[in-house]
Amino acid sequence: KKGSYDHFMQKEIHEQPHSLTTTMRGRLKDGGVLLGGLKEHLKTIRRCRRVVFIGCGTSYNAALAARPFVEELTGIPVTMEVASDLLDRQGPIYREDTAVFVSQSGETADTLLALDYALENGALCVGITNTVGSTLSRKTHCGVHINAGCEIGVASTKAYTSQIVAMAMMALAIGSDQISTQARRNAIISGLTSLPSCVSGVLKLDAEMKELASSLIDSESLLVFGRGYNYATALEGALKVKEVALMHSEGMLAGEMKHGPLALVDENLPIIVIATRDACFSKQQSVIQQLLSRKGRLVVMCSKGDASAVCPNGSCRVIEVPGVADCLQPVINIIPLQLLAYHLTVLRGFDVDQPRNLAKSVTTQ
Ligand code: UD1
Ligand code: M6R
Repeated sequence: KKGSYDHFMQKEIHEQPHSLTTTMRGRLKDGGVLLGGLKEHLKTIRRCRRVVFIGCGTSYNAALAARPFVEELTGIPVTMEVASDLLDRQGPIYREDTAVFVSQSGETADTLLALDYALENGALCVGITNTVGSTLSRKTHCGVHINAGCEIGVASTKAYTSQIVAMAMMALAIGSDQISTQARRNAIISGLTSLPSCVSGVLKLDAEMKELASSLIDSESLLVFGRGYNYATALEGALKVKEVALMHSEGMLAGEMKHGPLALVDENLPIIVIATRDACFSKQQSVIQQLLSRKGRLVVMCSKGDASAVCPNGSCRVIEVPGVADCLQPVINIIPLQLLAYHLTVLRGFDVDQPRNLAKSVTTQ
């Protein structure tokens, strides 16, 4: 089943041009978006007071990546809930809310308990899942199957990118009645169309990421700084590194750097800074300058052709990635980090597909 690949995680990373194509298949029509599972509910969703995203782990991170464009395209406020934390707090969920549950397996205990809680509170419950017939798919009022194909590696990779794309299509569908954002929606739809070929392009960084991994094998820790559309990329990249490579790693909001994390910076601690082109680019340039002035050991991810713009005197390592519509850039940017986590794990001699202490679906609380 692994074909020419050594591990399922590696296969699933490299499968992404295809899995993203199947996520979108039949759903981008006549310059618009058609999601069969949502079309009867769009009116209700448009009238809701807020969207609450609920998930765990990678699925939570995918929802976090979707938050900025859901807010932008729908104008509806979005709040984020880690399923267990919503339950711990018994946080408020109202009839006027649209609660969107994101889960690859559709069987995660915390997510399903949060679903029961939201159903009891009368919210419209929407599922985003990879598993047809799962408990999540059956118990939600409506939803979208991401159709990424079966994911076997414990580390979620192709499901993450397909979840983001499914939520991009959801945001486009909800916002499709707004004339003022028509041009923006068209640009995003054309970005979606070009995504599989961009993903094929970024997968060519495999050898470069293996070499980067070999320079990090003995590090104790790795920080990842992102912001805006790519805050989620920082969290998800760090989650991949910790769960498979068994290396301490934290994703952080670059805007919070001066409020604490800056104290950690020295010439030894490796730091990845995500600085691809979007409205936050100049802020990330100044973050890089501040880290370099503290002799930070930097790896900067930037858009193709931007190496000298992010790192003028060549004092950091640069990963150049292809550019897509800014809000879809997280789909591209996570891929070098997935490859990095994969190679780091193999080089450190750990089990890639079945990391220590972890299960593919967490069906107990
Ligand atoms: C559906 C068919 C697909 C077919 C297509 C043709 C299924 C599973 N999908 O896809 O095979 O090619 O029509 O038009 O038969 N749902 C939930 N919660 C979730 C996910 C989905 O309630 O978490 C519901 C949806 O609201 C919908 C149904 O499940 O009623 C199927 O969802 P989805 O597969 O996303 O719908 P289509 O893309 O229309
Ligand atoms: O099946 P789910 O998407 O609900 O799973 C949620 C998390 O358990 C899962 O994403 C976990 O964080 C992964 N192992 C991450 O790679």
